[in-house]
Amino acid sequence: MQEILKGILEETKEQIEKVVSLPELEEIRIKVMGKKGQLTEILKGMGKLSPEDRKEMGRIANQTKGEIEAAINNAFKALKEKAQEAKLRAEKIDITEPAKEIKLGTKHPLTVTMEEIAKVFKSMGFTLTEGPEIETVFNNFDALNAGPNHPARDWTDTFYVNEEVLLRTQTSPVQVRTLQSQKPPIRVFAPGRCFRCDTPDATHSPMFHQVEGLVVDEGITMADLKGVLDSFAKQMFGEETKTKFRPHHFPFTEPSAEMDVSCFKCGGKGCRVCKGSGWIEILGCGMVHPSVLNVGGIDTEKYTGFAFGMGVERVAMLKYGIDDIRLLYENDMRFIEQFK
Ligand code: DAH
Repeated sequence: MQEILKGILEETKEQIEKVVSLPELEEIRIKVMGKKGQLTEILKGMGKLSPEDRKEMGRIANQTKGEIEAAINNAFKALKEKAQEAKLRAEKIDITEPAKEIKLGTKHPLTVTMEEIAKVFKSMGFTLTEGPEIETVFNNFDALNAGPNHPARDWTDTFYVNEEVLLRTQTSPVQVRTLQSQKPPIRVFAPGRCFRCDTPDATHSPMFHQVEGLVVDEGITMADLKGVLDSFAKQMFGEETKTKFRPHHFPFTEPSAEMDVSCFKCGGKGCRVCKGSGWIEILGCGMVHPSVLNVGGIDTEKYTGFAFGMGVERVAMLKYGIDDIRLLYENDMRFIEQFK
């Protein structure tokens, strides 16, 4: 029996020396000292020996057991340490490695255009104001003098939320809100989103942007309107830009006009951008209709005013030579990055 114990001890020690992983070590432990392990079986068989032999063999078996346990413990500690070292090595951070490049986005061409428009009007003493994109039918149509049969009121042209509420089709309702909440002198501009039931194509989008302007004070005339908008055109499109006012109709202004600017691509000779005419239509404008001033409780004997509204997409597309409005909403960085 002594020989057997010696054999187990030597064999086990040899195996432990070769062990490279914790599961392997555990396997050895079970093989020797598990419930049915080699050493366990021997210890179980002790009962069959004579009392003297049992004493002597018991001592040797316990000593063997102790030695194997010690060997397993040592191997366990060594393997643990090795694993820890490997983990630390794997997790080491090279602080000299160059950092990953941070990619900055760029301003959207519509944002750039709106900021340019805003800068010009701020420089002329206009204050920025805003109105909600979800508006009342009253503010969007009735208060702006668009009668019950006005074509834009049609269900097929406008996104209605219900009979009284809609997605504004223009920024002009901000005029109504301003007239109701401020007293003259008024000088505001209001950029924002508008919505119309249009099928998207190269020049139409169901969502687009406008900038509205409103001036109300004593003695405001068409000359003020022309002076302000001509100055805007020159600051926006270049000093040499000429402007032209064509009579038009809007329900909330009287008289009404559309303003053309001389083509900033060809200077007026005629090209693809101005479709050969030398002029580009840029905005609608006019003298605020007395019935609109009345909605705001403004004394029309004392005060007059002018208003204007322009499409931001149109200005951006003309200025940057963008030929399809849908490009503005795709958020393709390859497109947007060109306007850095
Ligand atoms: N709201 C008009 C539109 O969407 C644009 C407009 C025209 C605004 C004349 C005005 C204005 O303030 O006076 O077509």
